[in-house]
Amino acid sequence: ISKGNGVKGLSEMGLKSLPKEYIQPLEERMSMSQIMPQESIPIIDMSSWEDDPNVAESICNAAVKWGFFQITNHGVPIEVLESVKEATHRFFGLPAEEKRKFLKENSPSNNVRFGTSFTPEAEKALEWKDYLSLFYVSEDEASALWPPVCRDQVLEYMKSSEAVIKRLLEALMKRLNVKEIDEMKESVLMGSKRINLNYYPTCPNPELTVGVGRHSDVSTLTILLQDDIGGLYVKGDNDRWIHVPPVSGSLVINVGDALQIMSNGRYKSIEHRVVANGSKNRISVPIFVNPRPCDMIGPFPEVLEGGEEAAYKQVLYSDYVKHFFSKAHDGKNTVEFAK
Ligand code: SIN
Ligand code: FE2
Repeated sequence: ISKGNGVKGLSEMGLKSLPKEYIQPLEERMSMSQIMPQESIPIIDMSSWEDDPNVAESICNAAVKWGFFQITNHGVPIEVLESVKEATHRFFGLPAEEKRKFLKENSPSNNVRFGTSFTPEAEKALEWKDYLSLFYVSEDEASALWPPVCRDQVLEYMKSSEAVIKRLLEALMKRLNVKEIDEMKESVLMGSKRINLNYYPTCPNPELTVGVGRHSDVSTLTILLQDDIGGLYVKGDNDRWIHVPPVSGSLVINVGDALQIMSNGRYKSIEHRVVANGSKNRISVPIFVNPRPCDMIGPFPEVLEGGEEAAYKQVLYSDYVKHFFSKAHDGKNTVEFAK
């Protein structure tokens, strides 16, 4: 219906009710009784990480217990965060003809993709979300192929978040007894990156659909920038869900399946979802820090040194990702592929 202008196009038509394709089965919707308002994921201040070992300690504890945490004073300048949010609004504000150029069938490259929902062909009900997904290959490729309205700001954000990503991974590796991040480890931990610009338009009947369905990420780590609207929920105990409140200047960090596998389950890749909003447009910008597609991933030898049994087998990362994208969001099922 709205090829080229996604769900945003639908939203702007001023629909009074949700099109039936987007109506989610009851069990996929979020009800108030499932929310745990008293719980929250840790917020870790990284300002003193250099002299204070408690910072690394808190990061590792959070990755073990929650799989999700927020960081503040992380070193990515606030102006960079603001400008990538503005760039995201600029991209989605483009006329449909401009965005259409990046649809799967038109895009100059598989590495640049504008789309809507997640895997519409595999979904029983669609998700209320549009996105631009950018797989980073090189600065030259980005300059040539990424949409000029957001390219420079996205590149700047990727560059200025590199240091904190390294810092987080170094801390997490130390706890696993991995003393040095050599070339091979660097490749499997952070050898490739994808960045998504997500747009969740205002939705009629938000309670009947989802922004993003229940899933865990396939990344090593995900670094998420969200705006001040809120709506991201993380799975807690007993099938209940914990809100991740917007904290100005913070970044949300979560462990992905690849790190769960490499850590033999010590770090947890937790299910999360995004609800739709009845009165506001929301954006988010995750950077997925990934192994390279050609890497084999499996539990690190250092983790198994004490005689622990491997809970996962070695899998080719591109096969793992292909499996994830071949189905609708289905909670934590992707990881079964590595068992
Ligand atoms: C996602 O996990 O896919 C999106 C998270 C968000 O938009 O907050
Ligand atoms: Fe996610």
